[in-house]
Amino acid sequence: MTIEVVETTAEVRTHVRGWHRSGQRIGLVPTMGALHEGHLALVRRSVAENDVTVVSIFVNPLQFGPSEDLASYPRDLAGDCQRVEEAGAALVFAPSVDRMYAPDHSSYVVVERLTRALCGESRPGHFRGVTTVVTKLLHAVDPDRAYFGQKDAQQARVIRRMVRDLDFDLEVVILPTVRDADGLALSSRNRYLSPSDRGQALALSRALGEIGRAFAAGERSAAALRQRGESILAAFPRVRLDYLEIVDDESLEPLERIEGPALVAVAAFVGTTRLIDNVVLGDSHIVSS
Ligand code: PAJ
Repeated sequence: MTIEVVETTAEVRTHVRGWHRSGQRIGLVPTMGALHEGHLALVRRSVAENDVTVVSIFVNPLQFGPSEDLASYPRDLAGDCQRVEEAGAALVFAPSVDRMYAPDHSSYVVVERLTRALCGESRPGHFRGVTTVVTKLLHAVDPDRAYFGQKDAQQARVIRRMVRDLDFDLEVVILPTVRDADGLALSSRNRYLSPSDRGQALALSRALGEIGRAFAAGERSAAALRQRGESILAAFPRVRLDYLEIVDDESLEPLERIEGPALVAVAAFVGTTRLIDNVVLGDSHIVSS
């Protein structure tokens, strides 16, 4: 049997009504497709914790800037459907852009403050696009739980805040970053990297590793920790740093000293590919795998 793929919110709702009527718990995993083991870890967790799992696959134009990679973003719906079916999902929601956004679409969901720093600064409008599409997906699927990756740490915190502030009735589950054996965080964008750029991309996880070691050894000054990371990044000539920041894990405000849980977030271009990664110092809210 091949997994059912629906393209409209109305069709999703027909399924959802039936599931709710029979008391089934629904898990939602929102994605932009080109699925890898990081996405599939979310799907598997949802399958384990809920009766049915819906995976949405939608490359959301609203969250891409004008000079970003919307047109070239990798797409593989057939392969994705096979992967999520194998992982145990019940339904794929893969709307077209026209189905998602009316030509005169004019309503947006905006989370303030948390979206100002980090990726919010280098990608204006990005989080407005994310929170608007995630709101639409949550309305369509009405899940009991929705699953997000720590890989996109700021996104996960923004969504958690939105769900709290706007009284969405669901649990947001954040799962750890899945990495290749050498430490590179899995990302759909990794497939843009040439073999030599892939080596350069290790700069991000290496810098975070160095900062983690310095923290474990007792360093608590954010400036000193950042410097340790920057010294690693400097050894990778094709890496152009966008930001390396150490912020409070909840408010995302910059820290001078690490006293509670801190998020170390890095974004960098390797050639033309923009990659992000992060690590949490101290206790975190991430569910362990
Ligand atoms: P996308 O980049 O496809 O990611 C979908 C989900 O998979 C996100 O929650 C992301 O954090 C998670 N993910 C990606 N790489 C991961 C990894 N290596 N380990 C663990 N989880 C990982 O994020 C988006 O799509 C979009 O912004 C979306 C939320 C779908 C809204 O359009």
